[in-house]
Amino acid sequence: MNNGKLISFEGIEGVGKSTTINYIKKFLEKNNIDVYCTREPGGTRFGESIRDILLSNKSVISPEAELLLIFAIRNQHIEDIIIPKLKAGTWVLCDRFIDASFAYQGYGKKVNLKKIESLVDNFTKKVLPDLTIFFNLPYNLAKKRFPRNKNKDRFENLNDIFFNDVYNGYMKLANENKKRIKSIDANQSKDSVQKQIIRELTAAFEEIEQ
Ligand code: TMP
Repeated sequence: MNNGKLISFEGIEGVGKSTTINYIKKFLEKNNIDVYCTREPGGTRFGESIRDILLSNKSVISPEAELLLIFAIRNQHIEDIIIPKLKAGTWVLCDRFIDASFAYQGYGKKVNLKKIESLVDNFTKKVLPDLTIFFNLPYNLAKKRFPRNKNKDRFENLNDIFFNDVYNGYMKLANENKKRIKSIDANQSKDSVQKQIIRELTAAFEEIEQ
């Protein structure tokens, strides 16, 4: 369907995804690869508006309604942004994607995994990441990195049990999808985390030379 690659980045909050994605973008560009960075929930104007509602502490949203909103955002994102970019040969770096729905809504909020699988089967146009980088940092360590003074959003306000479940969910997903999901030890320096990711990218894609 495409010449570009879709690479997603996953992990609980506090693991340092966003800064690393910018570094990876620059690394790929040095390899003459055209790169587009995006995120979920979000990525389109529609998606970013709904993201504001999902993250607002004023919102009262059930786990299943949350799941449906996230998949509405994802469907629009895939159709308007991800597929056209991949078709144009661009590599798409996505800060969170399908695995986050299994980890947060499934393992975290206990929505039946079969319901999530059925949304994936029916509303994602068979778009799966070529590679997923999982920033592996247990919650007790990630928690220490949560910004102190920031006003927490609706997700960040969830409790320790929830985040432990999300982390364990990600571990399960990584173990069940070893070929696609590469687990990175995120309890390391920024430099070491970046090197681990570059190693995985170089092993996965022949387009990368250095
Ligand atoms: P972010 O702050 O990392 O961009 O993500 C916003 C929140 O959205 C984060 O707490 C995780 C959550 N989320 C889900 O619960 N399910 C999903 O499918 C995605 C993509 C994100």
